[in-house]
Amino acid sequence: MRASSTGVLLLGTALCTQALEYKDGTGRLPALGWNSWNAFYCDITEDKIMTAAKQVVSLGLKDAGYNYINVDDCWAVKDGRDKVTGKIIPDPVKFPTGIRGLADKIHGLGLKVGIYSSAGTKTCAGYPASLDKEGLDAATFASWGIDYLKYDNCYVPDNWQDPYDFCVPDDYRAYGPYHNGTCGQSARTPPSGYNWTTSLEYKRYKQMSDALLAQNRTILYSLCNWGHAAVEEWGHQLGSSWRMTGDISPQWWRVSEILNQMSFKSAYADFWEHNDADMLHIGNGNLTMEESRSHFAFWAAIKSPLIIGTALDRLAAEKVAILKNAHLLAFHQDNEFGKPAQPYKWGVNADWTFDADRPAEYWSGESKNGFLVLALNTLQQKSQRTIVFQEVPGLVKGQKAEVPAFEVTEIWTGKKLGCVQKGISVQVASHDTAAYLVGKECSPAT
Ligand SMILES: *[C@@H]1O[C@H](CO)[C@@H](O)[C@H](O)[C@H]1NC(C)=O
Ligand SMILES: *[C@@H]1O[C@H](CO)[C@@H](O)[C@H](O)[C@H]1NC(C)=O
Ligand SMILES: *[C@@H]1O[C@H](CO)[C@@H](O)[C@H](O)[C@H]1NC(C)=O
Ligand SMILES: *[C@@H]1O[C@H](CO)[C@@H](O)[C@H](O)[C@H]1NC(C)=O
Repeated sequence: MRASSTGVLLLGTALCTQALEYKDGTGRLPALGWNSWNAFYCDITEDKIMTAAKQVVSLGLKDAGYNYINVDDCWAVKDGRDKVTGKIIPDPVKFPTGIRGLADKIHGLGLKVGIYSSAGTKTCAGYPASLDKEGLDAATFASWGIDYLKYDNCYVPDNWQDPYDFCVPDDYRAYGPYHNGTCGQSARTPPSGYNWTTSLEYKRYKQMSDALLAQNRTILYSLCNWGHAAVEEWGHQLGSSWRMTGDISPQWWRVSEILNQMSFKSAYADFWEHNDADMLHIGNGNLTMEESRSHFAFWAAIKSPLIIGTALDRLAAEKVAILKNAHLLAFHQDNEFGKPAQPYKWGVNADWTFDADRPAEYWSGESKNGFLVLALNTLQQKSQRTIVFQEVPGLVKGQKAEVPAFEVTEIWTGKKLGCVQKGISVQVASHDTAAYLVGKECSPAT
């Protein structure tokens, strides 16, 4: 155990690993916020970021819990650091009051502010990055008032390359859902039992973790190494969340592909440790309303950070409503139950099938308000989905009645369905998700 000047503690947890825990509670629950990348990519300015921040307030997203406003790549002067101080220089055209000025304005709205760098020699878009300059950059970020760092994985120099790569999750039937990184046939797959915390990848990400912890400021550390080096096994030692995949794109096939990968990783998430399925694309590309609902429902259910990635001044009201869904946000931010929802039945496929287009359809998770139960339709046409209470793990606890009955709330409308017996059968549109909160046991009127 050790403490820094801000009272940052590293506490031992189960399995002889350690989890990073900020004393002020930062990182205990998955983050909520907005980030510039999915909306604007490199085309950012202070105006665009401040428009988003103001919209987060005026649309009621701040009241719903969204509190981080994060600047992604391309915020700096591209061709070099300050010749005297060595610091990264904020682009004076995009950010005329600097990142410090931007941070002051965002803090003035009662929100927090995030910045972006990479554990390499350049960021993904080719801007100055932080490898071997972690101490200087972390101190600079702290001096600007930064509260959150997204740390990418581009431009890793040759002397930092590992002999092993990462686990290609290509055969979960053989290795089981909680495999330990030994799957895949690639020559770069490590030997069985390989300890990833001895890897250079771990070291690259630890250097920034140490640098952030040395600052007199809480800075949430969001690792973004795309699931490489079995990061889910060690990310919690260094930071609050870690990206599990490559980038998301605003199309259903990609949302479905990521959900399929995440469905095998729920064992790694809990309080203080969050699998990151990448930022939200609601409002972008050609995601339909049904697909937007499913994208949000599952990102909330698996307790990924929920980072909005669209131009909020142009977002349709019904999509704002998805982002503000009170039942899903309550599950995501539950302070008593840290575990995410997990699939309990694949539906179209046999259980534990790895299939990007037909991921697990039936999911459940416990919360202080009851069980969240989701039923996804992965097919191209409308189809019936049936939730059977007896099949939901942990739901039916020695109930006397032969046919269990529960108070049920429909999550999209908030409608109370009353005392429902046995289960719920419903027609679900293509790529939509039926979503319920299954509450207290009840006795149906006879
Ligand atoms: C990892 O998985 C392999 C294959 O299932 C198994 O032989 C090995 O004991 C496991 N190692 C650890 C450290 O759990
Ligand atoms: C992995 O390596 C680290 C660093 O050498 C060590 O502290 C840790 O105990 C090792 N873990 C296992 C399971 O062997
Ligand atoms: C750390 O920050 C706190 C709050 O901003 C301040 O009161 C304190 O003086 C700082 N400590 C050091 C060592 O700079
Ligand atoms: C959305 O885009 C994808 C790929 O870009 C395409 O395959 C799909 O048909 C589009 N869907 C709609 C509803 O336009």
